[in-house]
Amino acid sequence: MAGHDFSVLILAAGKATRFKSEHSKMLHRLAGQPLGDYVLKAVGLLKPQRTYVVIGHEAEEVRKAFARPGLTFIEQKEQLGTGHALLVARTELERCPSSTLVVVVGDAPLLRAETLRALVEAHGKACAAATVLTTRLENPQGYGRIVRARGGRVRAIVEEKVCTPAQRKIREINSGILCFSRPKLLEHLGALSDKNPQKEYLLTDLVEIFDRHRLKVVPFPVGDAREVLGVNDRMELAQMERILRLRKAGALMRDGVTIVNPECTYVDDQVEVGRDTVIEPGVSLLGTTRVGSACTLRPYSTITDSVLGDRVTVRPYCMISACEIESDVILGPFAHLRDGAVIEQDACIGNFVEVKKSCVGRGTKAWHLTYLGDATLGERVNVGAGTVTCNYDGEKKNPTLIEDGVFVGSGSMLVAPVRIGRGSYVAAGSTITEDVPPESLALGRARQTNREGWVRTRSQAKPSVNITVREAGPVAVVEVNGRLTLGPPVEALGQTIRRVLESGNRKLLVNLTHLTYIDSAGMGALVSAMKATRESGGQLRLSSIQHKVLTLIETANLNQVFEIYPDEASGLSSFSQAPSG
Ligand code: UD1
Ligand code: MG
Repeated sequence: MAGHDFSVLILAAGKATRFKSEHSKMLHRLAGQPLGDYVLKAVGLLKPQRTYVVIGHEAEEVRKAFARPGLTFIEQKEQLGTGHALLVARTELERCPSSTLVVVVGDAPLLRAETLRALVEAHGKACAAATVLTTRLENPQGYGRIVRARGGRVRAIVEEKVCTPAQRKIREINSGILCFSRPKLLEHLGALSDKNPQKEYLLTDLVEIFDRHRLKVVPFPVGDAREVLGVNDRMELAQMERILRLRKAGALMRDGVTIVNPECTYVDDQVEVGRDTVIEPGVSLLGTTRVGSACTLRPYSTITDSVLGDRVTVRPYCMISACEIESDVILGPFAHLRDGAVIEQDACIGNFVEVKKSCVGRGTKAWHLTYLGDATLGERVNVGAGTVTCNYDGEKKNPTLIEDGVFVGSGSMLVAPVRIGRGSYVAAGSTITEDVPPESLALGRARQTNREGWVRTRSQAKPSVNITVREAGPVAVVEVNGRLTLGPPVEALGQTIRRVLESGNRKLLVNLTHLTYIDSAGMGALVSAMKATRESGGQLRLSSIQHKVLTLIETANLNQVFEIYPDEASGLSSFSQAPSG
């Protein structure tokens, strides 16, 4: 190879039409990384003289995501095809110091640096004007087909859309990765046009243009077709994801890791796992995570950017992110560790325990339902169920310090900033607001009092209604005592009225002397009682209403509905007078 006399141009401006997405295809995540990262990484390893990235759709986001030293971004404002991307780059390419330019599509994530290097070498050796990286596919659908001339040179690349039926059968395809003599490219770039059925400037048309000018275009076939697979829609994204996941799982298994079901285990490329570790289904190991040896990762835990020592057990459904877990620790099920939590050797963090920005010392145990935030726990601390470090005062986070050998009883609230001295006991159910000196017992709760017989007294004192019926001549006097409110009191009144009417009594006087309160349901019950009486041909009247209750009745305008008498006697005598109403 002529040293490093080559530059690379990556095409990454496309709109991802087939993704049906608002976002650039380059930013869609593949096995945890933006799609564009893969090609950039492979290209980076080659150390080209210049690396150009043509961006367009979501240019700013793409630029931000991929910004790294040595990249030159070129903006293609309108995306009129891969050839147009080169036209837009023309000025930059004219200034490029290299004699060879490698054009790489941004959506071929499996491409390896070695292959690109071999392509550049082959291109140099063949003294070609262009070299096309090709491969043979069982199903070439969607790819540009390689039309070879006699002698093996490439005469044209025909895009799927314009293939003749015979061309469609060609299984050799264009990877979208081409090596050009930069001067020749610049000389003929202007000949590209969008006068084709796709109405796009097609980079691939350059091959035919070169051929017309008797410039040599040669193929460079790669054996492993997967290497040049493009990602053009979300199904291809999922297929690619699967390939990458299985590839990573395969590498781990070869290195002595048991993966119970590689199809449903998600391990990012950079993750490291030690020997004899067992990874059960549904586990995700993401980012820069490193797992030691002989660990057991039970199903459905997600571990991100964290370091685990040896023989760690992660029971099902844990979330661990940016944490350091030392050897022989047991976590979960359902533990949530985050933001730099450090769990030292032999510690146990059990179910429904959240640990944030805290250090849990050797052999310390918090088995159940606990929150440890901004806390430092020494060695051999026992944290009882339901303990909470109350770290947030509404403005800032405050620290809790629990020294070696402390016993925190269940259900304790440790209001930070607070310190529990070495070897102390915190009584269960305490609210601790002040520091506890070493080797003390802290009792932070009100002394319990028992009121014996309280239940009985309460039920006696319970305000309820008492309804009695007595006869005063032809009139049934219904006396309502207590509170006539929704529920049993209202039901009791209804039952009493029904009983009186059933017994044949048609003249009812409801005496309310001892009615202390009435709500709207109670008023409704009185109205219903009157209605029922009228329907059975009788009359219902009220008497002796206390001032307080009368106000309530008047507010509801019920004084217009009922005949109301100041006392029982006048009520009774009203029945012996001429019937009214
Ligand atoms: C392209 C090739 C096809 C090849 C296939 C391999 C052309 C015309 N076709 O087709 O022969 O078999 O790749 O995967 O080159 N892009 C721009 N600006 C644009 C249009 C596209 O930068 O105006 C970028 C895209 O972001 C993408 C790359 O070019 O990274 C390829 O575009 P894509 O639409 O995927 O082309 P294919 O149809 O796959
Ligand atoms: Mg493509």
